[in-house]
Amino acid sequence: MSKKIAILTAGGDCPGLNAAIRGVGKTAIVKHGMEVIGFTAGFSGLIRKEYVNLDETNLSGLLTLGGTILGTSREKPFKIEKGEDFNDKPELIKNNYQELGLDCVICIGGNGTMKTAHLLAKEGLNIIGIPKTIDNDVFGTEITFGFDSAVSIATDAIDRLHSTANSHQRAMVIEVMGHHAGWIALYAGMAGGGDIILIPEIKYKVENVWRSIEERFSKGKTSAIVVVAEGIEKPDNVSAASYLVDKIQKNTGIEARETRLGYIQRGGSPSAADRILATRYGAYAAELIAQGEYGKMITIHGGLLGTVDLEEVGNKLRLVDPMDSLIIKARNMGVLFGDEKIR
Ligand code: F6P
Repeated sequence: MSKKIAILTAGGDCPGLNAAIRGVGKTAIVKHGMEVIGFTAGFSGLIRKEYVNLDETNLSGLLTLGGTILGTSREKPFKIEKGEDFNDKPELIKNNYQELGLDCVICIGGNGTMKTAHLLAKEGLNIIGIPKTIDNDVFGTEITFGFDSAVSIATDAIDRLHSTANSHQRAMVIEVMGHHAGWIALYAGMAGGGDIILIPEIKYKVENVWRSIEERFSKGKTSAIVVVAEGIEKPDNVSAASYLVDKIQKNTGIEARETRLGYIQRGGSPSAADRILATRYGAYAAELIAQGEYGKMITIHGGLLGTVDLEEVGNKLRLVDPMDSLIIKARNMGVLFGDEKIR
């Protein structure tokens, strides 16, 4: 008896989601003869029983498409809203799962999605999690799809800032996404030749930042590129980039300008690496279902696919280790992280 499976995409979107949907769907249909549906708008569709049938026709042309054809949401089915003392969403989900005759739900998302996936598995649903986010902060796997595309987009932006910074002898501060993690800032900062990289995982002093820029210019440099993660410590009422631009200008007299990349990092066609990674994650999910293996998140370590129990990963973050080998190499090359004491 062929299986019937459902896919949903939840949390922030990212390049590669459609490639993952395609990877699951095509493998399930072509190799295993499964029936595939897609819930719309993340867990909201599962609660409201809103879905589309997926077949080889509507799965074609997805590999290069940004976003998610299913839509997404940040719906948290187990969250008790303020003023409520009960929430019937889990029951609605279990009923829909039974009424639709599903054998498995594949949840594609970040750490919040994996927490919900685990709670649904505890309710008796067959669940597989696929880690997704530009932040690369899902605990238990080495890299999520979406990350490489975001780093490529941010790196291209940094490349462009070098020329304008030098033309105006300015300090350019570019703020990238990453939520509480500094992966995008670290990798794009290094790929783009940033002089200073600030990440939440390394406590910085703003005085070290402006003093190091002052020193750079005093030695004849005509620009400074500062790459900051949105999650660094800063006053609440201002963005990280604005805060740093203000401090640099006020303390050094050097002109500084900000660029906040924002949602550009989440848009557009996935990089080739993300297309491959998302396809691998998706195809492997279909294989696990064919083998009847549930309650797992798919992982990748050293290029090899594997699994980890969902209960191990939900709502845990994988943050940058300050002793990461890339940080050591950066420091050895003179890249500053704001924690160095400047004379
Ligand atoms: O998790 C991805 C992400 O883009 C984070 O980097 C960012 O902080 C957050 O989503 C923005 O959330 P929203 O899309 O709900 O504004």
